[in-house]
Amino acid sequence: MSDKKQKTDADTNSAWGGRFTEQTDAFVEAFTASVQFDQRMYKQDIAGSRAHAKMLNKIAVLSGDDLTAILAGLDKVEEEIRAGEFNWSIAREDVHMNIEARLTELIGDAGKRLHTGRSRNDQVATDIRLYLREQIEFIINEITRLQHGILTVAEREAETIMPGFTHLQVAQPVTFGHHVMAWYEMLKRDAERFSDCQKRMNMSPLGAAALAGTSYPIDREFTARELGFTAPTQNSLDSVSDRDFAIEFCSAAAILLVHMSRMSEELVIWASAQFDFIELPDRFCTGSSIMPQKKNPDVPELVRGKTGRVNGNLVSLLTLMKSQPLAYNKDNQEDKEPLFDTVDTVLGCLRAFADMVPAITCKHDNMYKAAKQGFSTATDLADYLVRKNLPFRDAHEVVGKAVAMGVSTGNDLSELTLTQLQQFSDKIEADVFDVLTLEGSVESRNHVGGTAPEQVRKAIALARKT
Ligand code: ARG
Repeated sequence: MSDKKQKTDADTNSAWGGRFTEQTDAFVEAFTASVQFDQRMYKQDIAGSRAHAKMLNKIAVLSGDDLTAILAGLDKVEEEIRAGEFNWSIAREDVHMNIEARLTELIGDAGKRLHTGRSRNDQVATDIRLYLREQIEFIINEITRLQHGILTVAEREAETIMPGFTHLQVAQPVTFGHHVMAWYEMLKRDAERFSDCQKRMNMSPLGAAALAGTSYPIDREFTARELGFTAPTQNSLDSVSDRDFAIEFCSAAAILLVHMSRMSEELVIWASAQFDFIELPDRFCTGSSIMPQKKNPDVPELVRGKTGRVNGNLVSLLTLMKSQPLAYNKDNQEDKEPLFDTVDTVLGCLRAFADMVPAITCKHDNMYKAAKQGFSTATDLADYLVRKNLPFRDAHEVVGKAVAMGVSTGNDLSELTLTQLQQFSDKIEADVFDVLTLEGSVESRNHVGGTAPEQVRKAIALARKT
């Protein structure tokens, strides 16, 4: 279904009309356009143009009058876009050509001089870096807000005893404060990953032009400085072609979402009637249209689900980049939607979590009761026997027998009598009950990284300092 016709002056894309004898196929025009989604980088595109124009003027390639006209015109274009009055056109393909064409409509020939010594290839590579650099700032702020929420909960629940799990089987008692501080640590590394990736991407590709640089005596340090980049990139071919910085960003995002999916899963499990450890605030849940009793943990479930698309976006970008020869290829236009979707999804998930987490309430009795089941202090009994000089392997055996008795009599270890316990080892004395209690167990794990309330408070204090 080709829409070919001979070109007329009015309907040829003016950016490359010179070489073409027929107009772009109407479907191809829409198919190859990116303005529908890359318009979100308009601020960055305009900032890049301002820096480029100032640089051209500095090296005497652009007159002072032209520079003045360009800067005023760009202000006007930015205002129009912000006010929603800008007429985005598919025929002008992308954000770069839309802005340049409108600028030229507004200021005439000076607008046409702006693209001297520049290509959309270095322009888009610049825009994405500027855009991501800013979004990373927002993401780190949201991670920090979520971490603050976690600290609030950890402080409140530093002494709250719950079962710690391995294989989702009760393992040893821990405090809820300690559990959520594990989340804090995961998020801390996530924030660091974003910040590392931000540093690496903060290099200016501007001046790489189409691929080989330009014959004008451009000042790349100047534009880099103007745009807040650390320095210009070192190789023009690399600058316009690689999207590794976007892949790195999506990879940091995927790891973050994997972490959040784990937190989500725990919240969903804990909120179930079977566990009943926590209450999620109503405003973060929904009901069922048919079952009046239902209160569904939608927010954590949805965050868990969104991990799929964020992981998928990472795979999209990796696959997009794979095997691309140097330098720019149109494939790269496909980087934007997965990237933008990742930004939006990550910010949405973080926002929901940062609002929700501090409002979680604990059901202390249920947590405590659950920690008492499953012989969670068995290791404490073994450690007790080791302190009384029994080799650990023998102690393990003694405790195994005591647990078997507990199973058959329906008692927790702390509920067996001293006489019952002494059947298994004469080293057991009355002081054994100090270690068989849940409180004794958590308090004894009093070292850096341990679950003792004192350590949880120290971890919180350290976190607040940083
Ligand atoms: N819209 C394009 C992109 O997103 C801009 C660069 C186009 N360059 C080109 N040579 N066609 O990648």
